[in-house]
Amino acid sequence: MRRPFIAANWKMHKTCQQADRFLNDFLPRISDIKDVDVAISPPYTALSTVSKKIETNSVLLCAQNMHYKKEGAFTGEVSPLMIKEVGCEYVIVGHSERREFFCESDQIVNEKIRIALENGLHPIVCVGETQQQREKGRTKNVLTKQTRIGLKDLDRQQAKKITVAYEPIWAIGTGESASPSDARDGCSFVRSQLEKLFGNEVSETIRIQYGGSIKPHNTVELLNQEDIDGGLVGSASLKPDSFSKIIQKTSQLS
Ligand code: PGA
Repeated sequence: MRRPFIAANWKMHKTCQQADRFLNDFLPRISDIKDVDVAISPPYTALSTVSKKIETNSVLLCAQNMHYKKEGAFTGEVSPLMIKEVGCEYVIVGHSERREFFCESDQIVNEKIRIALENGLHPIVCVGETQQQREKGRTKNVLTKQTRIGLKDLDRQQAKKITVAYEPIWAIGTGESASPSDARDGCSFVRSQLEKLFGNEVSETIRIQYGGSIKPHNTVELLNQEDIDGGLVGSASLKPDSFSKIIQKTSQLS
């Protein structure tokens, strides 16, 4: 049985002060939930604030991105060592907004995943198709390419440390999630690719999150699906009330 994993992706939201206020409200709401892994991914500037605040709680710290070199002349970038130092155990890699707005290729995603693992970080690897790719019937090709190239050269032990987030791009930030069966089909297809790459035993241990307009009202139907082990939550993770409800509903399922 895979333990459910819910991760917040705050994107470019919340100053340190706002993050602090969020946690004061949010942490007591989930303090008695022990059967769900919960991660928060604040912007870089608030990592340290969140890290200090969650120290005594079982919430995990996750960065939204990082560079694929440990250090160097890369103005404006942040390295795996830097996010690790402030307490990150997880890092989101290859989010569709990084791919689209910052030209991240599958090769770059692969470099980031490998350096994250080499430095003891657990990558949450995002994959997913655009509306246009879906309409052209190319969803499986896109997911195959993203997993094949993105996870290239990982050994089985490393593969066990990753989480994959299947996020159909047309469902991100739209308020319209994928239907439970479409979400399941995407996640199941991703697992079949993981099985081809790493074998059955490993693919069965890797957690696959669904992402794209998860809200309290659709959490149960989405997370009840086979092969969906949790969620990557954007806008609904910005409010203590909605994010804690998603976690509570997930806990009731397990
Ligand atoms: P959303 O974002 O929940 O606002 O759709 C999800 C994501 O981009 O990870």
